[in-house]
Amino acid sequence: MDPLETGHKYDALASWWLEQMNGSTYGVAALERALTFAEEGRDALDVGCGCEGRFFRVLMERHFQCAGLDISGEMIAAAARRYPQVALTVGDICSWPLPRRYDVITAWDSTFHLPLDRHEAVLQKLCEGLSRRGVLLFTCGGGEERGIARGEFGGKSFEYSSLGVPEFVRLLWRFGCAIQHVEYDQYPENHVYMIAKKR
Ligand SMILES: C[S@@+](CC[C@H](N)C(=O)[O-])C[C@H]1O[C@@H](n2cnc3c(N)ncnc32)[C@H](O)[C@@H]1O
Repeated sequence: MDPLETGHKYDALASWWLEQMNGSTYGVAALERALTFAEEGRDALDVGCGCEGRFFRVLMERHFQCAGLDISGEMIAAAARRYPQVALTVGDICSWPLPRRYDVITAWDSTFHLPLDRHEAVLQKLCEGLSRRGVLLFTCGGGEERGIARGEFGGKSFEYSSLGVPEFVRLLWRFGCAIQHVEYDQYPENHVYMIAKKR
């Protein structure tokens, strides 16, 4: 699915998403695990940040300067009302040039919406956007093969794609990162999070 179409769908879901997720701790344990690998530095980017902002809260408690990117203008507008101290941008991670390097980059349940043929370039961009010994946390579909799946969410149909776990691991190494942790955190759901660190 084209990222712009994904963004329009999330525009329509922004208020519902906030109601559903307000106060949620979904993914926070994974973020806290990722932060145990972060040695130094103070700049964090959340890709596909949405509007609820629990990752911002955890990162700001640890004195990170936070930035967030999302393709949905409505998600970013709602996030801006809640987190005026965060540098928020409406944009597509496929085409958005990272303006700097970050010590921590997160992409929780966002890049799994990318068209299959964009994953490699986006992963390279995120790895290259890490500062020295920076840490990347992202989720992807589990399984060994590349593929596309469709699903209903918030009354809308979405597309999800994955290169498969072995290919993500191989690419991370090729793009200068080493895997620190891989977990099927919702087993038996086909959902994986990975933590990688710049070598
Ligand atoms: C399932 S929501 C997750 C939001 C947030 N990460 C969270 O866990 O609460 C997916 C988010 O990714 C954003 N997104 C999807 N594709 C994107 C892209 N190509 N560039 C930037 N954001 C994207 C959507 O607009 C949406 O806000």
